[in-house]
Amino acid sequence: MQISIIKVTLLALVLALGLAPPSWSAAEEGMAAAINLKPNMYDGLVIFRICAKCHYEEGWGQRSGLFPQLAGQHAKVTIKQLVDVRERNRETAGMDHFAMLREIGEPQVLADVAGYISSILMTPNPGQGAGTDLAHGERLYNQYCAACHGEQGEGDNDLFYPRIQGQHYQYLLRQFKWIYRKERTNVQPGMVSAISDFTQRDTEAVIDYISRLKPPKEKLAPSVKWRNPDFE
Ligand code: HEC
Ligand code: HEC
Repeated sequence: MQISIIKVTLLALVLALGLAPPSWSAAEEGMAAAINLKPNMYDGLVIFRICAKCHYEEGWGQRSGLFPQLAGQHAKVTIKQLVDVRERNRETAGMDHFAMLREIGEPQVLADVAGYISSILMTPNPGQGAGTDLAHGERLYNQYCAACHGEQGEGDNDLFYPRIQGQHYQYLLRQFKWIYRKERTNVQPGMVSAISDFTQRDTEAVIDYISRLKPPKEKLAPSVKWRNPDFE
């Protein structure tokens, strides 16, 4: 009884603040319940051990882009993605069943694992593109992407804009194409229209540029040899 009152209040608050415009938001209730909870980092680590099977202990994924880097992502963005996958509002290659595990069904567990993930240092060596068209990529980025994703691709936790700086090129490329073809449907309509005229050249150039944007120093691992100390 009390919990459902809290949930409804949180939901009303989120909607009132306009943080989650219904058109592209995740299933509001599940998300609203999780985003304002304080994460327990230890419990988050326990759950993250499941994720590490694919995303690796550092949360860096693979340079091939098969598994994305999760490390350093804004907690609210991660929560939204997990709820979207669970609610079938985001198609993914390969992790549906994990996101639907009972273990991450509870709002507190979502908050814990997302909080833990946001605290992991990011890879200094993401997969990148050819590096041959970066000036074009930079121009496009500043004109079409920076308004939402931030000048350095840092995103915005409160507005659910993902941090895309230093993410693997091939993963970004795959998501971008799915968004462009409207096969990934959980994205703000503003992005879909911003990219509607992008050619193959534009796409590769802008994504290459993004994969080379550097996360802030305090979020970056000191070297490629860095290992997540929580797994020692
Ligand atoms: C069986 C392998 C596997 C496991 C285990 C797994 N994932 Fe994933 N995950 C993937 C793959 C593959 C993708 C990329 C899907 C795509 O391309 O759409 C992904 C994508 C994601 C994304 C989207 C990233 C983004 O930038 O939008 C998030 C968030 C995520 N996983 C979180 C988790 C969490 C949290 C766990 C543990 C509870 C987990 N994953 C466990 C394979 C896995
Ligand atoms: C109107 C705001 C907006 C604009 C403009 C925009 N985006 Fe996005 N983008 C978003 C939001 C919001 C998401 C995350 C949607 C979700 O899954 O919740 C996103 C997701 C993405 C993703 C997937 C990230 C991931 O981790 O899975 C990529 C790649 C991306 N954007 C690239 C771009 C590029 C490149 C541009 C410019 C050409 C651009 N975006 C312009 C709002 C925007």
